[in-house]
Amino acid sequence: MTTHWKTLRWVGGVGGSLFLIDQTLLPTEFREIECRDVETLVEAIRTLRVRGAPAIGVAAAYGVILGVQPVMKKSEAAFIERLRQTVEQLAASRPTAVNLFWALKRMETKAESLRGRQTEEIAAALLEEAQKIHEEDRQMCRAIGKHGAALLQDGQGVLTHCNAGGLATSDYGTALAVIYAAAESDKTLHVFADETRPLLQGARLTAWELLQRGIDCTLICDSMAAQVMREGKVQAVVTGADRIAANGDAANKIGTYGVAVLAKAHGIPFYVAAPSSTFDLSISDGSKIPIEQRRAEEITHGFGRQTAPPDVPVYNPAFDVTPAELIAAIICERGVIRPVDREMIAETLQV
Ligand code: MRU
Repeated sequence: MTTHWKTLRWVGGVGGSLFLIDQTLLPTEFREIECRDVETLVEAIRTLRVRGAPAIGVAAAYGVILGVQPVMKKSEAAFIERLRQTVEQLAASRPTAVNLFWALKRMETKAESLRGRQTEEIAAALLEEAQKIHEEDRQMCRAIGKHGAALLQDGQGVLTHCNAGGLATSDYGTALAVIYAAAESDKTLHVFADETRPLLQGARLTAWELLQRGIDCTLICDSMAAQVMREGKVQAVVTGADRIAANGDAANKIGTYGVAVLAKAHGIPFYVAAPSSTFDLSISDGSKIPIEQRRAEEITHGFGRQTAPPDVPVYNPAFDVTPAELIAAIICERGVIRPVDREMIAETLQV
């Protein structure tokens, strides 16, 4: 099952540019933007034109090429200096999704391994590396779908939060990949999509994707999840993640932790679907995951209408951390991690 659109696509060779679906315009307008320089891409990441942990990682890998384009014919020293600056600029765009830093590290390591070669040759190899990251992400999503589909039964209601679909990755998604793969194996599911305040990724993006792929879905406000669970309409919850610590604590869109607590209270399994690039084993537990704080206006003036006194103090963390003990399993491209603990994570990721 594929769709005709691509979350992001590189057009051309090393002098090419990155096209992204501007996700801030969905679902009412489908438009791509072209990023010809790193500044345009950093703005696109900050403002969530491109968003979702894996998609940000892939975009940042291509962003390195955009950054070095002006120095492609210069000395190695100038090239490496520019590469470092580019990596710094991209790394400062958003703090929580570790896929961004993972992809940048891979690009830097690639460049380091080619020191002494012609700068044009290094640039060509960097483009190949970015394309490899892009393709690997596609394959990881497919594998996550395959592993996760086995956890869902025909006829179940499945709740998801935020958007962990094709729009958040190269293609197909993580949490939604599980749902797509189950549907492809002829299981009929009914998906409840949390609207996901304050930026409504669930309403604007998940509902849009699910309808496009012909998946039965119902949109609910975040505050309705408890009632829908109590009514017996949900048999599983699947979400994505932005960073998973070594012990399995998982950061994801604000509100995910609350959903996990509700799932526990109703005896519903709560699954996290994420590729190995979302694990940060340098962080021992979730308390050390950096949480992005966003502008107050996202809450006081959501989508162009003032809905609160402009001077009211606002707290707007973009992510929260779900403790490992609330997670029934983590679905990764390497298999299903269960129980979710340090040992099982290390064993599955082979570290
Ligand atoms: O702020 P966003 O829209 O980038 O947040 C995205 C999420 O929280 C997703 O669930 C997560 O990145 C996983 S995407 C496969």
